[in-house]
Amino acid sequence: MSNIKQNTLLNPGPVNMSDRVKNRMIREDFCHREKEFSALVKDVNSQIVKIYDGMKNYESVIISSSGTGAVEGMLTSFIHDEKSLIISNGVYGERMERILRVQNKKLEMIQFDWLDPINIKSIKNCLDSDQSIKNLILVHHETTTGRLNELKEVGQLCKDYDLGLYLDGVSSFGAEEIAANEINLKAVSASANKCLHGAPGLAFVVAHKDQWERAPEKTSGVYFDLHQYYAMQKTDGFSPFTQATHLVSAFNEAMLEFNEMGGWKARNNLFRSRAEEINACLDRLGIETLIPKEDYSSVLRSYQLPEGISYEDLHAFMKKNGFVIYQGQGSFKKNIFRISTMGHIKESDITLLCSLFEEFFKNHD
Ligand SMILES: Cc1ncc(COP(=O)(O)O)c(C=O)c1O
Repeated sequence: MSNIKQNTLLNPGPVNMSDRVKNRMIREDFCHREKEFSALVKDVNSQIVKIYDGMKNYESVIISSSGTGAVEGMLTSFIHDEKSLIISNGVYGERMERILRVQNKKLEMIQFDWLDPINIKSIKNCLDSDQSIKNLILVHHETTTGRLNELKEVGQLCKDYDLGLYLDGVSSFGAEEIAANEINLKAVSASANKCLHGAPGLAFVVAHKDQWERAPEKTSGVYFDLHQYYAMQKTDGFSPFTQATHLVSAFNEAMLEFNEMGGWKARNNLFRSRAEEINACLDRLGIETLIPKEDYSSVLRSYQLPEGISYEDLHAFMKKNGFVIYQGQGSFKKNIFRISTMGHIKESDITLLCSLFEEFFKNHD
């Protein structure tokens, strides 16, 4: 085995996994059509819906894919002929628009500036002027900027207007509150390798039982037709296609670790306290956040690069010292950097990171 030094990953997934989770992957080889493996799949699915108290009427399926696969699966399987309104303020809202457009599904898009919060009044106006809208589609944590979108307020609109809510929870599930029963949540898509610290390549979709019961006559996907997965995972625990068996083992271990640690509230506190420490250090160095501090999720914060400092230089310095930071997307590519605080990392890593920021920015004054 090669002895490669492990970098500390401060990108928003894949995250550093514990040795315990990594070792679980090399412990067992499974045939995906044997009962030992199907028992594992069923166990993982039952653990996922226990993460949040309000998910008693929800069921999960796992799918071997990145987070986008789970989002595509959710939109492919549950959005049919009715019109949906996508609320967007970043890359991932726009990605959901692309998915629905290639499937020729009926949609409206309400687009806010990437720097801005979503505006509930504008969404309300949209709903008042088009009563054919039946669903709202939202990114919970917009990783483009680190903004935690106003899920409760959007959920209240869903209640008031009797709409279904479909959520991209890829970078929030397991670390931010999702009060499913208070927001008319129909389905949420998420990833094993972000807040839950599993291995990359496995994702899942949690949906209300009424969604699983509503299988359409005609599907707009094959690999992403989640009703097929549900029918099998719910009964014999198998899946229509070969699952990434080792990643399911890793996820099972990561869920044990997650529960032992205290669940989503403990993760929220941990990620947030790391983010606060980094933010305080950068603040002392005169580095400003991209959006107001109180608008961030626990998971990721974005910072403005001072004039004359290139992202590439900062990235190279950090990488040389064992830390992987993350670039901005789209128009933010050159002028921000992002720091995610997920993953199995040590408190001493955060202290070291802060001293590296001090060294770098003091030398680039
Ligand atoms: C909110 C959100 N949605 C979707 C994705 C896409 O996930 P993946 O890159 O695993 O396909 C990401 C990735 O960071 C994300 O943060």
